[in-house]
Amino acid sequence: MNYKKFPDNFIWGGSIAAHQCEGAWQEDGKGPSAIDYLTGGTFSKARRVTKEIVEGEYYPNHEGIDFYHTYPEDIKLFKEMGFKALRISIDWSRIYPNGDDEKPNQKGLDHYTQVIDQLLACGIEPIITLFHFEMPLHIVREYNGWLNRKTIDLFVRHCTTLFNEYKGKVKYWVTFNEINHLDPSCDFDSIFTYMLAGVEYDVIKNPKQDLATIGYNMTLASAKVVAAAKEIDPSFQIGGVFGLTCYYPQTCHPADNLQAFFDTNRDFYQMDTFVNGIFPRYKLAEYEKNGIHLEISEKDRQVLLNGKVDFLGLNYYSSSVSPSVVVKENEKIDGVLAGISNPYLEASDWGWKIDPVGLRYLLNYLDRRYHGIPMIITENGLGAVDELDSNGKVHDPYRIEYLRKHFVEMRNAIDDGVNLMGYLMWGPIDLVSATTGEMKKRYGFIYVNKQDDGTGDGRRIKKDSFEWYKSVIASNGENLA
Ligand code: BG6
Repeated sequence: MNYKKFPDNFIWGGSIAAHQCEGAWQEDGKGPSAIDYLTGGTFSKARRVTKEIVEGEYYPNHEGIDFYHTYPEDIKLFKEMGFKALRISIDWSRIYPNGDDEKPNQKGLDHYTQVIDQLLACGIEPIITLFHFEMPLHIVREYNGWLNRKTIDLFVRHCTTLFNEYKGKVKYWVTFNEINHLDPSCDFDSIFTYMLAGVEYDVIKNPKQDLATIGYNMTLASAKVVAAAKEIDPSFQIGGVFGLTCYYPQTCHPADNLQAFFDTNRDFYQMDTFVNGIFPRYKLAEYEKNGIHLEISEKDRQVLLNGKVDFLGLNYYSSSVSPSVVVKENEKIDGVLAGISNPYLEASDWGWKIDPVGLRYLLNYLDRRYHGIPMIITENGLGAVDELDSNGKVHDPYRIEYLRKHFVEMRNAIDDGVNLMGYLMWGPIDLVSATTGEMKKRYGFIYVNKQDDGTGDGRRIKKDSFEWYKSVIASNGENLA
């Protein structure tokens, strides 16, 4: 094997999520989902959850980019770029509109059959995320989302329906997207917590305890789903996707280095369980010290052991600096949203630090921690303000530059011996931002002519990066110029 090259069967492609692109929020029997009650926001103005759909409010996910109807043409564009795979999510509220319905919604199942068939017809392998922030609202309101163990059973039933339905067509599945953002140290009123936990703020009585319970219940759900999948088809490959950032110490003081280790490590407790089948002792020790109690029965322990994943998906956008424990308070913070600035790195328009070497670092770290487990980069990309010029073209050299530098570091990681199977660029077609709800934050190779004020005809336009990625794929990563 030539370690300097991408492996011959390297999976180049892209990654999207149902709620950020489909729209059609009330079509073909779909029930309302938690996300459908999230308003739009901006970099400086957080999205809000409303109790009802309020007239005059903007709910960007109701329309998305209309992928529910445009998927045949959009997938053809992915094929033109040479995609080997596309990661999509299946919206739970299209299959079980209330989550606890007796029977699945046939129209929802049929829709995804058509999408999957279209992908296969284009030679694109579907990779399905089973939970990418899409929970039926009824489960949020009646069951309190992942706080309730009954939700685990409902989710397993939903996934079992999908496994039986798409067996023979889909090989790669992902249980959860980024559950690592759930931890007792998180803010309970952050949008990420709502999207992941499926719990409304006023339900939470004891935030630290409840967040630990939610994180644990989802971990258990993942293991149960893996076991259910393997029973239906042992050849299924099941993974978990984690959104990671590496934390650098702010100074080389040993106490800061230790703090950076703890900050990076915060994102690993579910991943350790996914891979090793054992809920980690260090997390239980932390919980005990903080008065948090988890009910882990012997039966649960068996479930975790039987539900280990086959591969890991890494979502990587940026790195962070761990606030120093020795530097004085007033010298620490540099912009609330952007965190502490790293003088060696540039940042995106949204303050996310651009750090390709951090990707190589994390890939190596995961490789050593999990003994060469197969990995796919399931998300990576640059959210930027793209504009149409007077000729109706979009020139995005900054995106090409961002991706090129990350591809070089991926190749370096492969040369380091990392078992990297593929790269799926986030948002290969512009879609609704998860954190801000904006269209303005664009990631795509394909521009979607839709603006946050509702204007635009939805037209698809190839950006300069479209041809560039096409040639990267055609040369299997050799041609990065
Ligand atoms: C990841 C999510 O955390 O980040 C995606 O899995 C999300 O759903 C992506 O879109 C980028 O974030 P944003 O806010 O720029 O859309």
